[in-house]
Amino acid sequence: MNIEIANSYEELSLKAKNRIVQEIEKNKQLLLCTATGSSPTGMYQQLCIEFQENPELFNQLRIIKLDEWGGVEMDQPGTCEQYLQQNLLQPLQIPESRYIGFNSNPENPILECERIQEKLKTEGPIDLCILGIGLNGHLAFNEPANYLQPFCHVAKLSEMTLQHAMASKMNFKPGFGFTLGMADILHSKMILILIAGKEKREIVQKFLSKKVSSSVPASFLWIHPKVHCLITKDALEETA
Ligand code: GLP
Repeated sequence: MNIEIANSYEELSLKAKNRIVQEIEKNKQLLLCTATGSSPTGMYQQLCIEFQENPELFNQLRIIKLDEWGGVEMDQPGTCEQYLQQNLLQPLQIPESRYIGFNSNPENPILECERIQEKLKTEGPIDLCILGIGLNGHLAFNEPANYLQPFCHVAKLSEMTLQHAMASKMNFKPGFGFTLGMADILHSKMILILIAGKEKREIVQKFLSKKVSSSVPASFLWIHPKVHCLITKDALEETA
C-alpha cells in the first residue's frame, strides 16, 4: 500500500482529484466506483472545477455507486443517490447510460443485488475504486463480522453506522444497506482510499497495524497490489 500524508483536507482532495484525472486521461471509459460521505466530498468538488475547464475529459466516464442505504426512498436527503446526483452525476453530466447504482427501495432487495452484480459482470471490473473508512473499520457497508461477503449483498448495519451523518438526515432510519462485496472491491484494478479527520484516529491505528481481519474490513486492502491511501495529518495519532 502506498501511503501519502496530506497537510489538510484541501490538499488531500486536490491530490485525489489529480490521481483520478490522471487515470481518466489514460482511459476515458474508466469505470469509477464512488463512495459517499464526508471523505470524498472535497475531491468531488475539485472534479467539478476540472469539468468546468475540461468537460470533454468526462464524456465517456462510467460510474458505479459503491453502496446505498436500504428501505428509504431514493429522493430522501441523505441517500447515497442524492449525494452522488448533487456532488458528481449532475455536475459532470453523467447520463443514466453511464451510471450503475443500487435502487435504495426496490421491491426485492436480493434481486436488486443480483441486478447490480450482473451489471458489474458485464461492465466491470472497476478501474478505480474510491473508498472511505467507517469509524468501525467498515468498507462500504461491509461491516465488521466473523466473516465477510464477497459479492453484492444486503447488509445488516451496525448501530455506529446508523449514526453516520447521512442517515441522521433521514426521516426514517434505513433498515439495512446495499453494498458491493469485498471481492467486488478487491477486484478493482486500482483503489484510492481517503481518510481525513481526527475522529478517525483510533480506526486508523488499527488499519495501519497491517493485521488483516474481518473485524476491520478495511484491513483487507493490505492484500491488494495497487492501493493508494491518502490520509490527513490530523487522522494520524502522532501528529495530534
Ligand atoms: C458510510 C458510507 C461509506 C463511507 C463511510 C465513511 O457509511 N456508506 O461508503 O465510505 O461510511 O464515511 P465518511 O467519509 O463520512 O466518514
